[in-house]
Amino acid sequence: MCGIIGYIGKQKAAPILIEGLKRLEYRGYDSAGLALSEPSGLFVCKKTGRVEKLAQSMMGRSSGSTRGISHTRWATHGGVSDENAHPHLSSDGTFALTHNGVIENFGSIKKFLLSKGYTFQSQTDSEVLVNLIAYHYAKEPKDGDHNPFLEAVRRALFHVEGTYGIAVMCRDFPDQLVGARKGSPLILGVGKEEFLLASDVAALITHTQNVVYLKDNEIVSITPDSFHIANGTRENVSPIIDHIDWKIEDSEMGSYAHFMEKEIFEQPAALENSMRGRFSDDNSTANFGGLNLSAQELRQVDRILFCGCGTAWHACLIAEYLIERYARIPVEVEYASEFRYRNAPLDKNTLVFVISQSGETIDTLAALREAKRKGYRTMAIVNTVGSTIARESDGGIYQHIGPEIGVASTKAFTSQLLVSAMIALYLGRLRDMSFTDGRDFTEALKSLPELVSKTLELAPKIKKIASEYKDHADFLFLGRQSLFPIALEGALKLKEISYIHAEGYPAAEMKHGPIALISEDCPSVFLAPQDDMFHKVLGNMQEVKARGGKIIAIGSEEAEFPEDLPDHLLRIPECHPAVLPILATIPLQLLSYYIALEKGCDVDKPRNLAKSVTVE
Ligand code: AGP
Repeated sequence: MCGIIGYIGKQKAAPILIEGLKRLEYRGYDSAGLALSEPSGLFVCKKTGRVEKLAQSMMGRSSGSTRGISHTRWATHGGVSDENAHPHLSSDGTFALTHNGVIENFGSIKKFLLSKGYTFQSQTDSEVLVNLIAYHYAKEPKDGDHNPFLEAVRRALFHVEGTYGIAVMCRDFPDQLVGARKGSPLILGVGKEEFLLASDVAALITHTQNVVYLKDNEIVSITPDSFHIANGTRENVSPIIDHIDWKIEDSEMGSYAHFMEKEIFEQPAALENSMRGRFSDDNSTANFGGLNLSAQELRQVDRILFCGCGTAWHACLIAEYLIERYARIPVEVEYASEFRYRNAPLDKNTLVFVISQSGETIDTLAALREAKRKGYRTMAIVNTVGSTIARESDGGIYQHIGPEIGVASTKAFTSQLLVSAMIALYLGRLRDMSFTDGRDFTEALKSLPELVSKTLELAPKIKKIASEYKDHADFLFLGRQSLFPIALEGALKLKEISYIHAEGYPAAEMKHGPIALISEDCPSVFLAPQDDMFHKVLGNMQEVKARGGKIIAIGSEEAEFPEDLPDHLLRIPECHPAVLPILATIPLQLLSYYIALEKGCDVDKPRNLAKSVTVE
């Protein structure tokens, strides 16, 4: 997934574009570039590496241009190179384009354009699009009352199969920007005598909090004093201007060393925000404005399917445990990318939930669309307001935790677990959960921020453990029941930010194969709170110990361990079973964070990853 920002207004564009790219860099950071509309034509500067390198290249060049587009790349087609960086110029120099997405039929289009004499400098699919626009522009009459720049973009996109979020400039129309989207996000920022195009609100929020979320197949034409949106059939679209409800400091690091550290330590506040206004104490239940299903409709639901990717898929697994235990509704969980193609037979009264922090993950969006195509009611748990998944689902629940910038999901994950618990409470109270059980459940949720704050106090101890374990090449993470998905999440966190191989398993599964890995070189992290599985988990720990394996245990305050069984014991507060997965997650987030720091890894921008994967 890449980051795009465009600017047209009265201020110098270059500094705005670079500042915006820095706020988008978490979306992709292989290379970065910008294009400016100048009297001599379109100026392009693009470099492999981080945005800072581009900024250095631009230091010596003062451009008065007030129109420009820019891009930070996560490579899909074509390796990481200056030539493959965006913006791409058409071979006749008329157009500059930045693109987020994948053009699936780029091969056939490229072949056609080569036959028409167009040349290519890169291996990217995006350069094919900019030349296709140039091709149509060359054929457009220039004397009519229509806008040949806009028409050329529209005609080119008509031939494109795949996904795009684009910003385009034309040398002959220096006072105009064109943007379009299909499958990749694009947002129009409406400022005072200035407009911005961006893939994400974070890039434009220092200029305006008024935005228009472009929908699929919409195309926007922007001049310094106005904008016009049309849909795929050239009908004018009346824009809905939304107001962003968070501030720029929410997307800044503040006094923390990394966004991931900030987002781990702001989880108490994030969980407060996810809960705010969502309890009905009189009825000992939760309530959600956006669920869009009545109690009668929800009573008809006889199965729920949860879909997501990566960490969000782990949240789906927790939702399964919670809803089946507290609402007694059967739940299935599917990887979104699998559900889309598996053609799973579902009961007609199945409710489909998708979970996605970004609301733009293409596999999850595709699963949502597949469920809707089959007529199922769809709900979404999403953090990013106005995102594609939020807008296309029939209803849903926003997480309200502000932007999550670190590529490794932390506060978004625990917030998803909280929202899942609130859904379990709500559905349980529609069915067999008693008033008093509902009250206890509610109190447990309300106590979470304080319990998480207390758990975060383990940080210094975890930091020491991290320094002792940073050089291991393999880890096992083991938990039972609702802590098995947390074991998976702990393994994913370690993998994605420290590049250490780690696997999560149900603790009992270890003896069915993975125990062969146990040695002093392969430590095990056990989730072992004082719950009804505690003694079983102790047995699994003994099996590891007997084979010389090192053990880091996440226990609860009252859990009694045999002397020296775990090599390291981290105690989390005793708590209601429904919130135990959230508390158990915190030490694992910190362990992966501190190990990654010890290894000198780029915690916020791990190699090969992007914050939201908008390509299949
Ligand atoms: C989480 O740490 C990962 N960065 C990744 O697995 C992520 O959870 C996944 O790509 C889903 O993203 P989404 O929640 O924005 O849909």
